[in-house]
Amino acid sequence: MTRKRALGTCYYPEHWPEEIWAEDARRMAGLGLTWVRIGEFAWSRLEPEPGRFDWGWMDRAFDMLTGAGLKVVLGTPTATPPRWMLDRHPDMLALDAEGRPRGFGSRRHYCFSHDGYRAEAIRITAALAERYGRHPGLGVWQTDNEYACHDTVLSYSDAARHAFRDWLAQRYQSVDALNRAWGNVFWSMEYDSFDQVDLPNLTVTEPNPSHALDFRRFASDQVARFNAGQVAAIRARSDAPISHNYMGRTLDFDHFALGAQMEIATWDSYPLGFLEDRLEDPEEHKRRYARQGDPDFQALHHDLYRAVGHGRWWVMEQQPGPVNWAPYNPAPLPGMVRFWTWEAFAHGAEVVSYFRWRQAPFAQEQYHAGLLRPDSAAAPAFAEVEQVAAELAQLPEAEETPAPVALVFDYASAWAWTVQPQGRGCDYFRLVFEVYRGLRKLGLSVDLLPPDTGDLGGYRLVLIPGLVAPPAALIDAITRTEAQVILGPRTGAKTASLSIPVPLPPAIPGLDVTVSRVETLRPDMPVPMAQVGEVTHWREDLETGATVLDKDAHGRPVTVGAGNLTYLGGWPDPRFLRHILLRACAEAGVATTDLPPDIRVRQNGSTRFVFNHGPDPVAFEGRVLPPAGVAW
Ligand code: GAL
Repeated sequence: MTRKRALGTCYYPEHWPEEIWAEDARRMAGLGLTWVRIGEFAWSRLEPEPGRFDWGWMDRAFDMLTGAGLKVVLGTPTATPPRWMLDRHPDMLALDAEGRPRGFGSRRHYCFSHDGYRAEAIRITAALAERYGRHPGLGVWQTDNEYACHDTVLSYSDAARHAFRDWLAQRYQSVDALNRAWGNVFWSMEYDSFDQVDLPNLTVTEPNPSHALDFRRFASDQVARFNAGQVAAIRARSDAPISHNYMGRTLDFDHFALGAQMEIATWDSYPLGFLEDRLEDPEEHKRRYARQGDPDFQALHHDLYRAVGHGRWWVMEQQPGPVNWAPYNPAPLPGMVRFWTWEAFAHGAEVVSYFRWRQAPFAQEQYHAGLLRPDSAAAPAFAEVEQVAAELAQLPEAEETPAPVALVFDYASAWAWTVQPQGRGCDYFRLVFEVYRGLRKLGLSVDLLPPDTGDLGGYRLVLIPGLVAPPAALIDAITRTEAQVILGPRTGAKTASLSIPVPLPPAIPGLDVTVSRVETLRPDMPVPMAQVGEVTHWREDLETGATVLDKDAHGRPVTVGAGNLTYLGGWPDPRFLRHILLRACAEAGVATTDLPPDIRVRQNGSTRFVFNHGPDPVAFEGRVLPPAGVAW
């Protein structure tokens, strides 16, 4: 499957005098951009008063942009309900865990469970789709923007409480079943009716983890339900594909559930913001990559969103210079905007779109760079985009070939680890990220897979770390595959309602291993392995009749294997992980490359891309890659 690669930008006509729109559109097209995203925060201008629409300016913006040859991504404006909405629905705000309303004056100030707001969101979406759904310049829809950003999925409102009770009644059918599933006999927490169940906040000490996990499942379902309302409103009026625009390290809802509703997944890649704001790596790592971003964080998300979009995915917002929202906001090294663009294309992106066209001199994001400065002169990224546009002539097609290695990713496991970490630093995303990094350092291209994958055919190595309650389809696929499969730590550790199963876990058919006890470790008490590396954070006692592959320095089994299955009973440090991966790759016949620390490679169709993420030149395979260097 091939698709044309293209570039785009995010534009807010409502931020600028109409006199400059034509010139903006001309410059966008002249720069080689194909796509322009508009509309996603414009509700107060589209509907200044309830029921009074002002389409004129949007009609003219549409005509101006599409007249210049651009295609439009139209966002529904539901991430920013206008102030009048609060007068109509005073109780529509989400409440935080302390019970405080999350007030007006920024964005995303709504509760997903509020039916009144949901109806308003469907209403504005239907109105937009009615007006522009068949416009020849409309290419793609975007629902809302960045669900979950700013910690907005969990709401402790009355609307959420009532909806949660209904959700529980549907799921358990009888309150006895709920009491049994949650183990409510413990501490006399039993309920007589669903109407007595509150949200798991404001309890004296921690709430029942099963209660907390179900609340997270429910909250995720509410996001999917909210989105489905918009999708239906659009589908009734438009044939254009629909997307949602996701964020990085955002785990509070199941992105695969939304992906199933739409044709394309897009996400927002802010490498420098993420490095400072969303990674727990040591300061020296952050210092080294301060102007380039982490070498693996963007790549992981590219691969994740490729899976969420069933192969069709974009970067909707690419960082073009300093951002405004991380603890420190340095400028990228010259060349990084081009580098990030090619990195996304190497992972299969169809479109890379820059946020934003022009830096805004007002409001919250004044110090957020654009392709243009606030005075409309070209910002440093402009020339880099020009360069990419010229280079696209050499490599115009996005290709995709399945990677040899798969990594299973499960949002519900992220919630389970959050609800019951058992030790500081025990975090599902972090574990998956470290495994991904270990694979990428060996030069491997990786596919991410959803947890209900029922067929692992085609892969030679499959990693399933930390997947707390694997669905039956996945267990079935594991028993049928000939790939090398590495499970654990904590894979299969719990029932779906977060109890410890008896017989004890992980109960993997064909692999005789039992986790008899777990312990978590302080950062300063890693357990050395007999051969290489250490176990950190999380360690399991294993009883096994299978072959012991690795022991710790005390002689206790840490990895055990039978046939193509391996169970890993601890969180491996990078050296131990590398040892495990090299052995599995050798068994699986997957070729690895010993990459220099700053180098990553990615195979896209017949093209092999090489990236230097470091601040210094690196010699690799007979050539020298400069900082921000990309080669193919
Ligand atoms: C994204 C968001 C944009 C803008 C940007 C700033 O998360 O979608 O609207 O706020 O961040 O970096």
